[in-house]
Amino acid sequence: MEIILRILFLLTLLHNVLVNGQIYDVLKFGAKGDGVSDDSKAFVKAWSVMCGCGGNNSTLLIPSNKTFLLQPLIFQRPCISPSVQVKFDGKIVAPINKAAWLKYKLLRWVSFTEINGLTIIGSGTIHGRGSSFWEQLHFQRCNDLKIIGITSFNSPKNHISINECKRVTITEIKLVAPHDSPNTDGIDISESSNIDIYDTVIGTGDDCVAINNGSMNINITRMNCGPGHGISVGSLGRDGEQSMVENVQVTNCTFFRTDNGARIKTWPNGKGYARNILFKSLKFTETKNPIIIDQNYVDKGRIDVEESAVAISNVTFTDISGTSWFDEIIKLDCSKVTYCKDIVLDKIDIATTDGNTPIVQCTNVYGKSINAHEVDGCFKR
Ligand SMILES: *[C@@H]1O[C@H](CO)[C@@H](O)[C@H](O)[C@H]1NC(C)=O
Ligand SMILES: *[C@@H]1O[C@H](CO)[C@@H](O)[C@H](O)[C@H]1NC(C)=O
Ligand SMILES: *[C@@H]1O[C@H](CO)[C@@H](O)[C@H](O)[C@H]1NC(C)=O
Ligand SMILES: *[C@@H]1O[C@H](CO)[C@@H](O)[C@H](O)[C@H]1NC(C)=O
Ligand SMILES: *[C@@H]1O[C@H](CO)[C@@H](O)[C@H](O)[C@H]1NC(C)=O
Ligand SMILES: *[C@@H]1O[C@H](CO)[C@@H](O)[C@H](O)[C@H]1NC(C)=O
Ligand SMILES: *[C@@H]1O[C@H](CO)[C@@H](O)[C@H](O)[C@H]1NC(C)=O
Repeated sequence: MEIILRILFLLTLLHNVLVNGQIYDVLKFGAKGDGVSDDSKAFVKAWSVMCGCGGNNSTLLIPSNKTFLLQPLIFQRPCISPSVQVKFDGKIVAPINKAAWLKYKLLRWVSFTEINGLTIIGSGTIHGRGSSFWEQLHFQRCNDLKIIGITSFNSPKNHISINECKRVTITEIKLVAPHDSPNTDGIDISESSNIDIYDTVIGTGDDCVAINNGSMNINITRMNCGPGHGISVGSLGRDGEQSMVENVQVTNCTFFRTDNGARIKTWPNGKGYARNILFKSLKFTETKNPIIIDQNYVDKGRIDVEESAVAISNVTFTDISGTSWFDEIIKLDCSKVTYCKDIVLDKIDIATTDGNTPIVQCTNVYGKSINAHEVDGCFKR
C-alpha cells in the first residue's frame, strides 16, 4: 500500500513538473520574428497550447532581439491554467499598411479577455505606429492581473485599457505618444476595482490616467506624467448616465507641461457620484490647469439645462506645489444642483510661470482650507 502511495506521489510530482512552469516560446510555434511576416497565428497557437495544458505558472515567451508583426488578436479563455505569464522581451509592431486592418471591426489591437492570474512582464516594446486602431492593449474581465516593465509607443488610441478587472498591478511601465496625438490616454480604467499603479512614466496626447465609471479603490503613486492631460477622474455622466467612482488616491506624482494636473470632470445632467478622492504630494512644472474640477464638461456649442449632476464629495488636494502656466491655479467649477461637498485644499504652493498673482476660482464649493489662506474665499459658508 505504502509503495503504491509513493508511486502515486512520484507520478503526481512528475506530472506537476511536466505541466507547471513550462515555457512556450512563440518561435517554436512558427513565429518568424523578422518584422515582416505575420506572426499572429503562431502567437494564438502558442497561447492556446499553453492554456490547454492546465499547469500553473506557464510562460508564453516573446523572446528578445526579435520583431513580431501582429494583426489585431484576442487572447481569451478557456485558459485552464489558473495562472499564466507572458514573458515579453521582444518587440511587437503593428502593420504599417492600414489596408491590412480594414477587415477588422474590432477597435482594439491586442486584447486579453477573461484571463485570470495573468502576468505580463519583461522589457518588451509595443509599437502601434499610430495605426487606425483604438486601444493598444485591452484587458477585459481579467482578475489578478499584473503588467510589469513593458513600454508602449505611439498607440493610435488608448495605450492600456482596463475594463471589468479586479486586483490589478501596473508598475515600471512606460507609455509614449506625441503630445499632439488625440485620444491617446495612457491608462484608461473603467468598471474595475483594486488597482495599484506605481513607478510609471507616461507621456501622451491625452490623459496619463483616466478613471471612469464603476472604478473604485484606485491607487496611483510615483508617476511621471507629461506631456498629456494629467490624471483625471472622468469624464463622468455623459448623456445622463449614472456614474460612480470612489476611493481614489493619487500621491507622489510629478506633472511636466501637462494641460491639466489633478482633474475631475463630469457632464451636466449625469447621475451618481465621485467621492473619497485624494490628490497628495504632487509637483507641477508649467502645468496649464494644476487643480481643476469641471462639472460643466460639454462639447463646444452644446447648451444644457442642468437638472442633475454627478455628486462630488470628500475630495482633498494636499501638498501640491510647482508652477502653473496659466494664472488660474485652481478652478473648482461645481454644479449648482449638487454642489461639491467636503472639498479640502491644504498646503497649496503653486506659483505662476510668468510671476503673476495666482487666481483661484470657485463656484458652488463647500469645504475648507488649511495652510492655504489664499484660497479661503473659495468656499461657501
Ligand atoms: C495549480 O495551483 C492550484 C492552486 O494553487 C492547485 O490547486 C493546483 O493543484 C495546481 N495545479 C497543478 C497542475 O499543479
Ligand atoms: C513562475 O515562473 C517564472 C519563470 O518561468 C519564475 O521566475 C517564477 O518565480 C515562477 N513563479 C511561481 C509562483 O512559481
Ligand atoms: C540580444 O542582443 C544583445 C545585443 O546584441 C545581446 O547581448 C543579447 O545576448 C541578445 N539576447 C538574446 C536572447 O539573443
Ligand atoms: C491604496 O492605499 C491605501 C492607503 O495607503 C491602502 O489602504 C489600500 O489598500 C491601497 N489600495 C490598493 C488597491 O492598493
Ligand atoms: C457604470 O458602472 C456600473 C458598475 O460597474 C455599471 O453597473 C453601469 O452599467 C455603468 N454605467 C454605464 C452607463 O456604463
Ligand atoms: C510619498 O512620499 C513620501 C515622502 O517621500 C513617503 O513618506 C510616502 O510614503 C510616499 N507615499 C507613497 C504612497 O508612496
Ligand atoms: C474621505 O476620503 C478619504 C480618501 O481620500 C478616505 O480615507 C476617508 O475615509 C473619506 N471620508 C469619509 C467620511 O468617507
